[in-house]
Amino acid sequence: MAEPADDPLFLRAARGEDTTRAPIWIMRQAGRYLSEYRALKERHSFWEMVRTPELAVEVTLQPVKRFDLDAAILFSDIMTPLPPMGVGIEFDPGPVFAEPVRTRAQVDALAVPDGGELAPFVADALRLLRAASPVPVIGFGGAPLTLAAYAVQGGGSKDFAEFRAFLRAERAAAHALLEKLAEVTLRYLRMQVDAGAQAVQLFDSWAGLLDERSYRTFGLPYAQRVLEGLEGAGVPRIYLAVDAGHLYPAIAELPVEVVSVDWRRPLSAVRRALPGKVLQGNLDPAALLGPRADLAQEAERVLHEGLGGPHVFNLGHGILRQTDPDAVAHLIDVVHAFDRRAAAWGDAVPRPKAATGGGRS
Ligand code: CP3
Repeated sequence: MAEPADDPLFLRAARGEDTTRAPIWIMRQAGRYLSEYRALKERHSFWEMVRTPELAVEVTLQPVKRFDLDAAILFSDIMTPLPPMGVGIEFDPGPVFAEPVRTRAQVDALAVPDGGELAPFVADALRLLRAASPVPVIGFGGAPLTLAAYAVQGGGSKDFAEFRAFLRAERAAAHALLEKLAEVTLRYLRMQVDAGAQAVQLFDSWAGLLDERSYRTFGLPYAQRVLEGLEGAGVPRIYLAVDAGHLYPAIAELPVEVVSVDWRRPLSAVRRALPGKVLQGNLDPAALLGPRADLAQEAERVLHEGLGGPHVFNLGHGILRQTDPDAVAHLIDVVHAFDRRAAAWGDAVPRPKAATGGGRS
């Protein structure tokens, strides 16, 4: 094992160390807000970039070369393991399914390929990345519930009504689908760790759609199965659900080191709901669209709220396409300049009232 001094900041924080500086990476850090991504996208389709290891590596490293980020996340998509199961998907720009999965017969027909057959190009990309990336490499997958939501709905949706109807009308088929997705996701993530991923994030983007009771039936047990299966893999596990504050009592039970939190609640309140977890987040992605001075202030508020336990700085959800890359550079500077130990000291001492009034008390 590396000496602590060589141990990258992101991995130390993700394993539970209360680091002096918060590491930062950004969800969807590779993508359309970067001109170098748009330039490649003119010549290659999304799937082509995902399925060509050299291109996936190039796109993964675009933000790492431009910014002082503390981690790289593999350029791919949560949908990547679905075509090998027999589900056809195109991107326009979100995923569009050739045939939504809505019957028991369709579920039964889905393949459960071995890790090696699932996406060999992902393993190749990760091996190349480990050699080329100056920062730790994060692998990822979609949680069974969220993958099922897309597969049944047939694409993105505001309310996933077809999916929520399916959970009620086709309960047994729903469980059979979730079971297959859990097995495939576990194999897919193990394969990524074997190929070099140093942390894994499970994206349960739509878990927040469900009430706690339904989540405990259709979401939690399957996410749990995937995460438990990675127990011996030796890498920090990160779980993300969006708009899911009502699910924190259940999420607190998940075998993960890190929980990624959206911007709707302060990290200080979330920390009480998720004892023992590293918190990741939780700047509102829209803060990057506002004035620079406000961005710095908002980021510092998040950093203060993140004190009191290990913190990986991130956005509360993916970066918005309208974002100016210079705002990202500024955000990273603010996060790196923030000394958490000194700030924790400052917070232990009562702050003087601002002389002008109206300031923070
Ligand atoms: O974070 C990164 O830089 C790694 C790459 C990454 C992508 N998708 C690339 C992508 C990651 C981690 C994802 C995860 C993903 N994909 C999720 C979970 C995260 C979340 O946002 O909740 C979901 C739900 C998807 C499904 C998906 N793929 C959608 C809804 C879309 C369209 C919307 C959008 O943001 O563009 C995609 C396409 C997609 N995935 C693009 C990228 C860069 C855009 C493709 C393009 O037009 O160039």
